[in-house]
Amino acid sequence: MVKPLERLAVSAPYAFGVYLAVSSGDPVYVGALFAFLMLSQRVAGPLMQMAQLINQYDEARTAVTIVGRLVNQPPEEGRSGHGVRVPLKGHIEFSGVTFKYKGAVSPALNSISFEIPLGTTLGVMGKSGSGKTTITRLLQRLHSDYGGLIKVDGVDVREYDVDHLRRNVGVVLQENFLFSGTIRENIAAAKPDATFDDVVRAARLAGAEEFIDKLPRGYETYIYEGSTNLSGGQRQRLAIARALIVDPPILILDEATSALDAESETIVNANISRIAQGRTLIIISHRLSSLTKADAILVLNRGVVNDIGRHEELLERNDIYSSLWYQQNTHLVPAGRTEKNFRSPTLVS
Ligand SMILES: Nc1ncnc2c1ncn2[C@@H]1O[C@H](COP(=O)(O)OP(=O)(O)OP(=O)(O)O)[C@@H](O)[C@H]1O
Ligand SMILES: [Mg+2]
Repeated sequence: MVKPLERLAVSAPYAFGVYLAVSSGDPVYVGALFAFLMLSQRVAGPLMQMAQLINQYDEARTAVTIVGRLVNQPPEEGRSGHGVRVPLKGHIEFSGVTFKYKGAVSPALNSISFEIPLGTTLGVMGKSGSGKTTITRLLQRLHSDYGGLIKVDGVDVREYDVDHLRRNVGVVLQENFLFSGTIRENIAAAKPDATFDDVVRAARLAGAEEFIDKLPRGYETYIYEGSTNLSGGQRQRLAIARALIVDPPILILDEATSALDAESETIVNANISRIAQGRTLIIISHRLSSLTKADAILVLNRGVVNDIGRHEELLERNDIYSSLWYQQNTHLVPAGRTEKNFRSPTLVS
């Protein structure tokens, strides 16, 4: 828009000058016109360049400020290089853990205590906002300003080297990011030196092999950004495979199977016991059917441990658990148990 106007502002006087020169027929006038033309270009050029330079300087200054802000961030605690780096086994202990998010009014976790023995599976259930994800965030030490003590293998998580701790804790969330690249590259992301056999083993464990084998290019199938060429269930199983490739001693599945259709969920659930082998597993799910096989199930309510026990025990004694279970499994409601016995019939996560 500006360019044509600019051209016009220059060209119009020229055109007028040329008209005058031609109509007057005076050769001096023509010479002067040409002299003016050349001179004006010599003067205007550097001026324009100066204007551009000011623009470039402004852009560079803004960019340097943004980069500076990022680079000057104080480093995260625990990256001093002096932290504990012993191999993790996976015995987890929370004692009296209280945590409040910055700016929040009430604590997300309020004096939580529980223990997950080495190599066992803990299911976690509770309403939305009850603090389930917060527990896993504290375990990965994404926050350090909590009260109480969290120990892994008897060592305070604050003592561990942060990178070391997080390398040993695999996490699969409800939504996972897959980058552009082949399926094989996506699974091997956390372990660049993984062999093809490693990739296949992880995919098989995650129940992903079944659909990968059906793709025309198998493991070399290219995934586009946003992974539009895969279904939600397929994406999720790849994310689980990616977490499994490093064989983490602690694995967290936070609503990892919630977005799956019934068929994919059955495939993953069928593999859960194999996935759980040799590691401590934390499964957070509002579909209680994926928790029934857990060694213990933690019932969280507004940041407080309401109960902890096995499926059969909770079904017997815990209202929050049993009402949600019978809501999801109406065909199993025992005779004599009616809707009005449900203390919290609208429990959804
Ligand atoms: N980043 C945050 N900043 C402030 N408050 C937060 C933050 N994340 C969570 N909370 C609050 O902490 C509480 C517990 O949140 P959390 O994410 O642990 O719940 P949840 O049990 O995982 O819920 P859902 O089932 O919906 O995932 C909620 O009341 C929530 O509002
Ligand atoms: Mg959550």
